[in-house]
Amino acid sequence: MSKKSPALMEPALTPNARTVLEKRYLRRDTTGKVLETPADMLKRVAVTIAEADRRFNPAADIDTLTARFYGMMARLDFLPNSPTLMNAGRELGQLSACFVLPVGDSIEDIFDAVKYTAMIHKSGGGTGFSFSRLRPANDVVLTTTGISSGPISFMRVFDTATETIKQGGTRRGANMGILRVDHPDIMNFIMCKADQKMFNNFNISVGLTEEFMRAVENDEEYDLYNPRDKKKAGSMNARKVFQRIVNQAWENGEPGIIFLDRLNRDNPTPHVGEIESTNPCGEQPLLPFESCNLGSLNLGNFVADEAIDWTRLKEVVHDAVHFLDNVIEANRYPLPQIHEMTHANRKIGLGVMGWADMLIMLGIPYNSAEAVKLGKKVMKFINEEGHAASRELGKTRGSFPNFTGSIFDRKGALPQRNATVTTIAPTGTISMIANASSGVEPLFAVSYVKNVLDGTKLVEVNPIFERIAKERGFYSPELMEKIAEHGTVHEIDEVPADIRRIFVTAHDITPEDHIQMQAAFQSHTDNAVSKTVNFPNSATVEDVEKVYLLAYKTGCKGVTIYRDGSRDEQVLSTGKKD
Ligand code: CDP
Repeated sequence: MSKKSPALMEPALTPNARTVLEKRYLRRDTTGKVLETPADMLKRVAVTIAEADRRFNPAADIDTLTARFYGMMARLDFLPNSPTLMNAGRELGQLSACFVLPVGDSIEDIFDAVKYTAMIHKSGGGTGFSFSRLRPANDVVLTTTGISSGPISFMRVFDTATETIKQGGTRRGANMGILRVDHPDIMNFIMCKADQKMFNNFNISVGLTEEFMRAVENDEEYDLYNPRDKKKAGSMNARKVFQRIVNQAWENGEPGIIFLDRLNRDNPTPHVGEIESTNPCGEQPLLPFESCNLGSLNLGNFVADEAIDWTRLKEVVHDAVHFLDNVIEANRYPLPQIHEMTHANRKIGLGVMGWADMLIMLGIPYNSAEAVKLGKKVMKFINEEGHAASRELGKTRGSFPNFTGSIFDRKGALPQRNATVTTIAPTGTISMIANASSGVEPLFAVSYVKNVLDGTKLVEVNPIFERIAKERGFYSPELMEKIAEHGTVHEIDEVPADIRRIFVTAHDITPEDHIQMQAAFQSHTDNAVSKTVNFPNSATVEDVEKVYLLAYKTGCKGVTIYRDGSRDEQVLSTGKKD
């Protein structure tokens, strides 16, 4: 930032946010001494991203733009994904959270992908892969006249590589592994995380097709194909396979499912390639060698006098799209193929965090028809304004290079700078930095114990609840502790009824409520929505099945569930034991 710039406001960070930043985001010297403040970090990011304007306009007023970008981050109105905060303006310079890599059916291709994965993890990005192109286990191998190991064996190599790299990197490497439901090894894939020691660096999802879903509905057989020769390799009863997926998800939360044909129906550049995978948390479908950078608006910041401040929201959406488009320029990509593909499609993923906060401030319970309706309205607004901003940039910067032949390429079409504009990310860390509820999730608990980073435990009271409790005079440390034990305030008489009604948590609401909200946001999001549907420990396999089918019926692109207590380790936990 130049000396001319006006004094910049300090970001209002909680002690927890400062700890997170100090541990992993701020620059350090070789002895580990922290070299920058959080404000320095935001300046580093703002100036690096603003500088990209010069590529399009040598006379651009970089100082003013830097101040705007800085302001929206320092007010915690918007934050880019973690790699941008960590790496912008630094040697590494890798700014994207999401990558998808191709895995071809040869030893060379597989180990190239392992190497690329290691390079991406080292830089803080996450990787998704489809293993569907690999021939099944025990198939022929012509060069050695031996037998093949199959996709699941090769996934172990990726898992081990990730495990090794994570120690040196800034955050745990994450992978998404996808196998099409018509791959002959599908049953083994569904079971591959049944042993909880296996594939801890992978999320796994089964890629479901429309044909398969129809066969489930009609209780029919569907065909399996060997990807080596595309020939039919048997058939199975669709309900049996679906049942196995659901049973396993009930057991320990995985596999999730993604609806492959839906991802491809919304593929903006079908002429460039087919979508076969998403990033690790499922919200970003990408083509092989494509990357995407995400950023999220903090919705709680856009409530003024118990109403949504649409004017300010619009302003920040436009600046955020400008920011994310510049990230594509400022980014240093780990591979030339990724550079090329990312520049050609220019996908960005603007999303939200603090949705539950916004609802609470407006006095609307998360599990109400009003909340679902408002979710649609808010996301529609962000999506439309986001696309307007992208078209605006397109006027001066041009459309994304793969525009011709894309879904936007119609008679009288307006320029479009980005092949996609919106994505709802989990915002796992940036919501901690912004002290906001994560993504579009309901509050996990009103007060809870959080296991963070290196196993440190923190007791956290929801900041809005704490403020209201103090204002209304029912705050006491004992009460906060009692709530932490229960997680929810629903049965706590000391809390006034109107407050109990709006402070609903992930466990107070039904799985159907979770899906309805996911579907509401999905209906106005270009890419996908990261959402976990929480079940109580007592949920049945049928409950899980119902939700998987509901996700399909309501137009979701995939679904991830978690039944309380079904895995050994849980990132978040309430004090409640039962
Ligand atoms: O909040 P933050 O920007 O750190 O990330 P997020 O919204 O929780 O996750 C967004 C994406 O970042 C995920 O879908 C992954 O692609 C990637 N990610 C990762 O690679 N490794 C992690 N440990 C966390 C996220």
